[in-house]
Amino acid sequence: MARPETVDEGQHMVEFAEFERSGWARRSRTYDDGFGAMTAGLHGRLLAEAGVGPGVRLLEVGCGTGRLASAAVGLGAEVVATDAVPEMVAEAGRLLPEVVRAELPGLPFEANGFDCSVGAFVINHVPDPVAAVRDLARVTVPGGAVVLSCWDALTANRAQGVFFDAVAEAGAARPAGLPDNAPFTPYATPEAFAGLLRTGGLTGVEVHRVGWTHRVAPDRWWRAVLTGTVLTSSLIEGQDEPTVRRIRERYDALTARWAESDGTVAMPVAALVAVGRSTG
Ligand SMILES: C[S@@+](CC[C@H](N)C(=O)[O-])C[C@H]1O[C@@H](n2cnc3c(N)ncnc32)[C@H](O)[C@@H]1O
Repeated sequence: MARPETVDEGQHMVEFAEFERSGWARRSRTYDDGFGAMTAGLHGRLLAEAGVGPGVRLLEVGCGTGRLASAAVGLGAEVVATDAVPEMVAEAGRLLPEVVRAELPGLPFEANGFDCSVGAFVINHVPDPVAAVRDLARVTVPGGAVVLSCWDALTANRAQGVFFDAVAEAGAARPAGLPDNAPFTPYATPEAFAGLLRTGGLTGVEVHRVGWTHRVAPDRWWRAVLTGTVLTSSLIEGQDEPTVRRIRERYDALTARWAESDGTVAMPVAALVAVGRSTG
């Protein structure tokens, strides 16, 4: 981890990392079927940006249940899939022959060992984003791509934004004990995300806005978010029953605008995809 500038900042990083690890451990068995099916909508684009193909040595960080790594294996890549949480490593092990427990920052790999590295919706969960990018730059060969995604603003990424709006419309207070802010929050715009990659030592940085539609029954999506996210679900989990009912009513009203004739809703999803090149 990079040296924190203050004792408070260091303490926040340690507490945030623990909040994330324990949260993802609880989600490991339920992530794939719901939320993981949605994030997979971006995996093809991330693999293409990284230049993944036959014989390419790919490092994946925060692999979750292993969908992206498995797709990369299907493209003929030599993949090392990693995740910080043993429970997720075990889940990914159902799809992949070998998964390594490794945390970002602090990757247990030598310099320049990979042709490219990818992290799908992971940088927004790490305690120290600058140190995380430096670590990826270190393990990727000079000229190799480092590809990272995060969520776009909640006003564009409606599949998640609708939960925050429902909580606000229900007048629900933020449950006590949640971290105030993820360390990544200041970087969650195209300009700041690009700046993060440059500060982390990457060159030729580009950030793209990418949108897609996730079609899912609204009840199924409600359960997917409650059982497949850490922070968003904590906003609802910590509420009493009448409040959860009010939030759910607002959620149903808000999602009705995307209703399709087959009973699903066509949810707009929006992400940022950042690509930079390692200088070794
Ligand atoms: C939102 S999930 C994304 C999973 C997968 N990449 C996907 O696209 O669906 C975030 C993943 O990052 C992992 N994670 C959280 N903090 C991490 C860290 N500091 N280093 C590596 N992985 C981390 C979690 O265990 C979880 O599997």
